[in-house]
Amino acid sequence: MFRIAPRQVARTTVAFAQHQHVTAAVGSSTAARALTARWLSAAAAPGPKPANPEFSSGPCKKHPGYSIANLPTSTLGRSHRSKLGKDRLKFAIDETKRMLGIPDNYLVGIVPASDTGAYEMAMWNMLGARDIDICHWESFGKGWFADAVNHLKLRDTVDVKEHTAGYGELPDLTATSKDRDICFTFNGTTSGVRVPDGCDWIADDRTGLTLCDATSAVFAMNMPWEKLDVTTYSWQKVLGGEGAHGMLILSPRAVERLESYTPANRPLPKIFRMTKKGKIDESIFKGATINTPSMMAVEDYIDALAWAESVGGTEGLIKISNNNLAVLEKFVAENDWIDFLAKDKSIRSNTSVCCTLDLTPEQIKAFVALLEKENVALDIGGYRDAPPSIRIWCGATVETADVQALTPWLKWAYEEVKK
Ligand SMILES: Cc1ncc(COP(=O)(O)O)c(C=O)c1O
Repeated sequence: MFRIAPRQVARTTVAFAQHQHVTAAVGSSTAARALTARWLSAAAAPGPKPANPEFSSGPCKKHPGYSIANLPTSTLGRSHRSKLGKDRLKFAIDETKRMLGIPDNYLVGIVPASDTGAYEMAMWNMLGARDIDICHWESFGKGWFADAVNHLKLRDTVDVKEHTAGYGELPDLTATSKDRDICFTFNGTTSGVRVPDGCDWIADDRTGLTLCDATSAVFAMNMPWEKLDVTTYSWQKVLGGEGAHGMLILSPRAVERLESYTPANRPLPKIFRMTKKGKIDESIFKGATINTPSMMAVEDYIDALAWAESVGGTEGLIKISNNNLAVLEKFVAENDWIDFLAKDKSIRSNTSVCCTLDLTPEQIKAFVALLEKENVALDIGGYRDAPPSIRIWCGATVETADVQALTPWLKWAYEEVKK
């Protein structure tokens, strides 16, 4: 069932009044009738609008029922190192571990600078100990490759192999080696391509580490923890939290690397330092963050976790994302002018859903602008480096009814810009 928001009722009423006004004003000449018809067809709503037009791929929509007024404020204005502050940070870590089913012997820390901070922290601390396979197939993974080669200059000391594929495809992940470190992105947010479920291409008896940027996957896809040595994500994605802090999840083997390897001649900014006298600084993973966190963002994250629990926990969130994707899959199957960038369903993202349209790049811009103007869909333009496309966030904070309500408007916008 579609829900009709009060503002839509008001908009429909205004549109009807405008139509009456225009019809009266232009009279009945053929040209005027054509003008009226065009105006009418442009204005005619194909159906109710999504109750919430937010489909951005990050920061993503806040969860249903979100109100900033619901956030506790007792930690604000207090030291984050007070018992209260540390307890809340530790609670966020413990809840994360519980809800994601992270093994007990893995460490989970809240670190500076969102997912980028967490991933670069891992790269800067751990890479260089052995040869590396870097797999990338969209913008962010390509950025990690550039970090490794241009900034860390790892090719001066170890072999760095690049495994890459164009937008919409995956490189051959089985060409990676279990004895090398492997860097990869679980879900390519800008191409809508994810690694296949289960990560069977990663060996259980590997000697290298896997470093996985999973920012648009955690809480939307099953994370095979036994395959992942370093996992990072940020709160602003699937849970619709705030930017600012990153989550860093380390397997025992990743900790072992930190304690046994110190990169030569590599300065580490204070916000990247995870060891003290050659030992992991465990306090970071119990809530004693390296530098000052935003306790408001922490409360916002805890609020998002509570909402996640209320919809069935991680399993519930995955189900919602899958349902959202299913709505778009049905729509794409029924319309030959729209297609997925990821043609292969087994690697198609259920969060950042990227679609190509049978339109020119300029028309795609107009399509996106039209839906934004109508307040039907905000921020759905493809990523700036991606092929001309649209990207509809289908993470769990987006309600399936809204994805459903969006689809006739996609068709409407297509027909409008084709005219
Ligand atoms: C795959 C991927 N990696 C990294 C980032 C950067 O995340 P953040 O801005 O949280 O650092 C993004 C943001 O969209 C992303 O999609």
